Amino acid sequence: MTKPKYKTMGQQFGRRSWAEPWKIKMVEPIKMLTREEREKAILDAGHNTFLLRSEDVYIDLLTDSGTNAMSDRQWAGIMLGDEAYAGSRNFYNLEDAMRDHYGYKYLVPTHQGRGAEHLISQAVIEPGQYVPGNMYFTTTRLHQELAGGTFVDVIVEEAHDPSDLHPFKGNVDLEKLEDLVKREGAEKIAYISLAGTVNMAGGQPVSMANAKALRALGDQYNIRIFLDATRAAENAYFIQQREEGYQDKSVAEILLEFCSYTDGAWMSAKKDHLVNIGGWLAVNDAELFDQLRNLVVVYEGLHTYGGMAGRDMEALAIGIVESVDDHHISSRVEQVQYLGAIMLDWGIPIMQPVGGHAIFLDARSFYPHIPQDQFPAQVLASQLYLDSGIRGMERGIVSAGRDPETGDHRYPKLELTRLAIPRRVYTQSHMDVVVEATKELYDNREQTRGLKMVYEPKQLRFFQGRFESL
Ligand SMILES: Cc1ncc(COP(=O)(O)O)c(C=O)c1O
Repeated sequence: MTKPKYKTMGQQFGRRSWAEPWKIKMVEPIKMLTREEREKAILDAGHNTFLLRSEDVYIDLLTDSGTNAMSDRQWAGIMLGDEAYAGSRNFYNLEDAMRDHYGYKYLVPTHQGRGAEHLISQAVIEPGQYVPGNMYFTTTRLHQELAGGTFVDVIVEEAHDPSDLHPFKGNVDLEKLEDLVKREGAEKIAYISLAGTVNMAGGQPVSMANAKALRALGDQYNIRIFLDATRAAENAYFIQQREEGYQDKSVAEILLEFCSYTDGAWMSAKKDHLVNIGGWLAVNDAELFDQLRNLVVVYEGLHTYGGMAGRDMEALAIGIVESVDDHHISSRVEQVQYLGAIMLDWGIPIMQPVGGHAIFLDARSFYPHIPQDQFPAQVLASQLYLDSGIRGMERGIVSAGRDPETGDHRYPKLELTRLAIPRRVYTQSHMDVVVEATKELYDNREQTRGLKMVYEPKQLRFFQGRFESL
């Protein structure tokens, strides 16, 4: 027999192939518009991919938030919604699932992550206090600022370098943190804002050793640690894969241990938890819980639904259990790794190492001729849509917003275009289409020009800002 010409995915990487731990029961048709139609759509959207109509998008990598495919069990859970105003059975199922897998004592449901961020910020930040954290997240920092706090970035330096291969680029730099505490005094620190994985750093994980050391520092200075647990299950998978001593532990065990070093967490359940809407806040302190339970009634809804329908809470409770299944989480993260491995192999500049939920194209290296105040990452997101109907989003100077003191743009070191992969939605073939389209753009990058901003909303400008070609 002649030597075979073709190789499977696994063989290309020198291993046995793996496949997703599910089969498809329902499909949603998608189509690609013509180039002319795409050109009109992106101009109408002011080069902002948030302003495109979803039906005009072919492969939608805008976000992994609320875009997940629910399982048949979660859909069955929807039919078990107990839509009582108070004391819904689904709330208690959600509370049990959170306690089993995150280990906190008290649960406050919220409509999504930013609802939880609002409550925790109002409850624990006093005006004039600092909130140190491992890189900002847009909505998180905004709620910290609205409560009168000032966010201070204390992530390790490696996180700001897109080519540094540190395995835990989400780690807190303990020295930077301790310097801040000594300089300002512990009473000026509202809490430590820890995120795992770190979205704005490219989905980079935090190690267990770092979380443990942070706990010790928090105890020494009597400062609480609250976790943005939005992608903490993905963080746990990286610990299992990369940190000495965790290879034989399940993702569920690792997640519980990780959370045990923190005093509470907020959650955008639209990510790890495989639902389309939902969130929660959880703490161990009874007094703080009491305060949060009062606040939730004002801003979200009664403390046993917090802005969610009973059916949403049921799907979420089931999603929590599914999210820590080792087969699920490995296929989810490895799909992202597959896309990243081919991009790297083809010389496309991306943030390294590849994180858990997305590929971050390094727009500075992609378009070295476009200065940062002409929005290279926004240009790249717009061009990718124009070229192939793929929707990503800007994570650079536009997302960073303006400095409230000087009014000037903040100039982040990272100028990235994010391609976020929804969970259980796209196949390997979609990933292949994405990598080929990105390569095509990269090969023809020289002619591309920058953008100017022609409409700028005051808050979170990346959502609704509009641009024109220079
Ligand atoms: C790390 C992180 N924290 C918080 C949020 C806010 O959550 P939500 O979009 O559910 O309000 C997000 C959403 O993108 C996120 O990625």
